[in-house]
Amino acid sequence: MGTALEVRGLGKKYGAITVVDGVDFRLARGECVGVVGPNGAGKSTLFNLLDGSVVPDRGTVMLGGRDVTSTMQYQRARLGLGRAFQIPRPFVGISVADNVLAGVMHGARLQGASARRRAAEILEMVGLADRHDRLAGSLPLLDRKRLELARAVSVGSEVLLLDEIAGGLTEQEVFVVVEIVRALKRDRGVIWIEHIAHALMAVADRIMVLHFGKKIADGEPVSVMNSALVQEIYLGSPVDGVT
Ligand SMILES: Nc1ncnc2c1ncn2[C@@H]1O[C@H](COP(=O)(O)OP(=O)(O)OP(=O)(O)O)[C@@H](O)[C@H]1O
Ligand SMILES: [Mg+2]
Repeated sequence: MGTALEVRGLGKKYGAITVVDGVDFRLARGECVGVVGPNGAGKSTLFNLLDGSVVPDRGTVMLGGRDVTSTMQYQRARLGLGRAFQIPRPFVGISVADNVLAGVMHGARLQGASARRRAAEILEMVGLADRHDRLAGSLPLLDRKRLELARAVSVGSEVLLLDEIAGGLTEQEVFVVVEIVRALKRDRGVIWIEHIAHALMAVADRIMVLHFGKKIADGEPVSVMNSALVQEIYLGSPVDGVT
């Protein structure tokens, strides 16, 4: 599989505090990498550096083989980088379908019938096809999460960044999200930051651990989550969902 994203020596300081500290990794198409780490470890900041909303102090970001380190956020979106947020950010006053269409037109830059076709495909993928004409603001939580994923996918043909998208869901709903991510990773690279470890374990091919901005582990999910280092970071308590 080709490389979707490659990061080398990525670093960011806020004042005297190094929030992301020399992070390197590679993400292939068809691969899902889970990211874990305590609150404040730098996970969301890493995403900000990847999507171009924050400029790194050092290091490089390659998207689909192209150096995008100095590329603006909207241009990275056009190159196929999509991001879903923990608190969904739909346009609440328009329909589900129009939300996705906006992403397809501005991100993937399709128009007319091909844009509508692509939006319909995406709604099908996330399980919202039968609610396409609902107002986005009227959706229950799981459907708002589906729509947030759809909006990210409408842009993210190459790479999807998912930041704690399973927060607040019931166990069964988390399972639904896991299945959607499993389908989405077939055609792109996915990075999923999530505190719900068993959700990551179900779909991630690798898990990467951030601690004080440093990548301290990166490998096969069960061995990473069971490692002494990770157990210690989580204050010696067994990590949720790992046996
Ligand atoms: N714009 C900013 N200015 C100053 N400090 C910041 C800024 N953004 C993040 N930080 C700090 O950087 C550190 C890492 O924050 P970040 O949001 O990346 O952590 P996180 O791993 O995503 O945490 P959480 O699990 O709580 O979401 C924190 O100490 C945070 O306070
Ligand atoms: Mg965060």
